[in-house]
Amino acid sequence: MKKNILVIPGDGIGPEVTTWGKAILEQIAEDFGHEFTFDEALMGHAAIEATGNPLPDETLEKAKKSDAILFGAVGHAMYDNDPSLKVRPEQGLLKIRKELGLYANLRPILLFDELLNASSIKASILKGTDILFFRELTGDVYFGEKTRSEDRNTASDLMIYHRYEVERIARKAYEAAMQRNKRLCSVDKANVLESSRLWRETVQAISKEYPEVKTEHMFIDNAAMQLIKDPKQFDVVLTANLFGDILTDEASQIAGSMGMLASASIGDGTGFFEPIHGSAHDITGKDLANPLASILSVALMLEIGFGLKEEAKVVVAAVDKALKEGFRTNDIADGTTNPYNVLGTKEMGKLVLKFIAQTAYTN
Ligand code: IPM
Ligand code: MG
Repeated sequence: MKKNILVIPGDGIGPEVTTWGKAILEQIAEDFGHEFTFDEALMGHAAIEATGNPLPDETLEKAKKSDAILFGAVGHAMYDNDPSLKVRPEQGLLKIRKELGLYANLRPILLFDELLNASSIKASILKGTDILFFRELTGDVYFGEKTRSEDRNTASDLMIYHRYEVERIARKAYEAAMQRNKRLCSVDKANVLESSRLWRETVQAISKEYPEVKTEHMFIDNAAMQLIKDPKQFDVVLTANLFGDILTDEASQIAGSMGMLASASIGDGTGFFEPIHGSAHDITGKDLANPLASILSVALMLEIGFGLKEEAKVVVAAVDKALKEGFRTNDIADGTTNPYNVLGTKEMGKLVLKFIAQTAYTN
């Protein structure tokens, strides 16, 4: 298979982790006889520094022409502490999501048994959890009108949804539920918000097209609590942009660390694959970042983006093997980890690469 992949490393630990995502893709191409070609582009703070624009036209053009995008992270400490800055790294990410029509963000909570003790939640509560989040990604308060009064003392962000936006992501989530355990929980705040009442009414209508799926509706505050209390009750979770942003950071703790969670953003065109973690300035350049979320994002690219199920399995199996053999990055190490098995970004990347190469060799 021939594919043209755009790598956007971005900021912070983005370049450190995407290096390994890309290396894995190269290894898979070699082992399975695919032809993956790569290009690279700027986004976020790196792009602002170079061009003044968090999403340069050149990046967008390359993105539109590519078959898939592997993305790292955007953000920089200087913006976090200065809300008055008008040009911000995150604008690049939001714009590319909108421009590429990436309305569905899939965030699987993939729980490796070996990491049950890395979570702050009890292993007995976590074991057996398997959740797939569908976070709406191009609507909501993220993209609604923003205002600031002249005296600067009042501000607003419009929380807005159109029926078609809810319909299209709901269909995608129901299709996934049909392939899984046929349970779907739609999360909203319909007891307070009009946009959530539209959300709920629309999901109720779509649910009729999928009578085999057991649909449940939950308020966001309750969902945030239930996720910690009894995560196993969830199969597919469908929710809006802001609620999904918050809930999936929370859910990452079920998998042990933000450093483990991958995501796929899809729409009708090119798919975009990225870890859910951010730029993590505190550990940037220290070889401490966990490359597994980027590597697992590559598995999602292979499976969802290119339909290469076997290749995706090999990548996940290699990650599993590294964990089974006791290797950890700092974020997922616990009291029982042998200190010699705590690896830096590079060592962990190399190890997974080696396991992938070995699988190909033994087959
Ligand atoms: C995410 C991130 C982004 C978001 C930021 C960086 C704009 O937190 O992908 O979850 O809020 O969507
Ligand atoms: Mg987030």
